[in-house]
Amino acid sequence: MTSDPRLSPPAGVQPAGLFGDSASSNGTILEARNLTKRYRLGSRDVDALRGVSLRVRRGEFVALMGPSGSGKSTLLQLLGGLDRPTSGEVVLDGEVVSHLSDAQATRLRREKTGFVFQFFNLIPLLDVYENVALPFTIAGVDPRHGDAATRIREVIELVDLAGRERNRPDQLSAGEQQRVALARALVGRPAILLADEPTGNLDYATGGEILDELWHSCDQLGQTIVLVTHEARAAAHADRVLVVGDGRIRDEIELGRRSNRDAGPLIARLAQLGL
Ligand SMILES: Nc1ncnc2c1ncn2[C@@H]1O[C@H](COP(=O)(O)OP(=O)(O)OP(=O)(O)O)[C@@H](O)[C@H]1O
Ligand SMILES: [Mg+2]
Repeated sequence: MTSDPRLSPPAGVQPAGLFGDSASSNGTILEARNLTKRYRLGSRDVDALRGVSLRVRRGEFVALMGPSGSGKSTLLQLLGGLDRPTSGEVVLDGEVVSHLSDAQATRLRREKTGFVFQFFNLIPLLDVYENVALPFTIAGVDPRHGDAATRIREVIELVDLAGRERNRPDQLSAGEQQRVALARALVGRPAILLADEPTGNLDYATGGEILDELWHSCDQLGQTIVLVTHEARAAAHADRVLVVGDGRIRDEIELGRRSNRDAGPLIARLAQLGL
């Protein structure tokens, strides 16, 4: 983990103390209003979400926990505009996603969100640099020159992969591949980073490194993060934990920003709640 002062915070985030307007810098960046999602499965309907409302503040780190099938991934996909709700609204940095056309929603998603998944979703034939550069390439920006090249080098350094730019994914460990996926998600300086079980495919120590990278980008760069996880250890990095059950938010646990990220207090609260 490097702590490079040249690294820039995500768009819309002012460094604390310089432009210290806490009202705007701590405002809501992401909101869900009574979201429902019904999937049709053969002749059966599955109610994956049954009315979820939440708000995420700018710069906040929120974890979504809950049992398998409770609706966490569905919620994350709706929050990030990857899918549309059956009813309800998502407000992403002031824009009501359901009021947008598909093309506008895609543009908003590309501008405002970065995604990291359990399976790293890297392109096997592209090297590290090219994988990280993908958001620029897709947008038609030459990733080898100018600001794009600077940003790509910055995020590759952020995830400690400087010197590995020419390696392909099959030449990297699982943890390194996930760090490439994280760099790719951060390279566009998205207002919000959405991560679905990013440590689910990693051993304990490597998962810990990814969590440290996430926490660093939130704490040092002001990156807003929504993290889906089964693990209390991972959720303990968050400022706030929302417990999802049966398509609803069942509980909310405020942890606050803590430098030690000790999972003990969260595990105790989850036990009190019978989880
Ligand atoms: N594309 C789909 N079509 C039909 N049903 C779906 C679809 N995606 C999810 N579901 C159903 O919606 C419910 C919620 O699924 P979701 O993937 O959001 O759960 P989850 O909390 O992320 O679970 P896990 O922890 O196992 O990843 C489940 O009952 C699931 O079977
Ligand atoms: Mg899931």
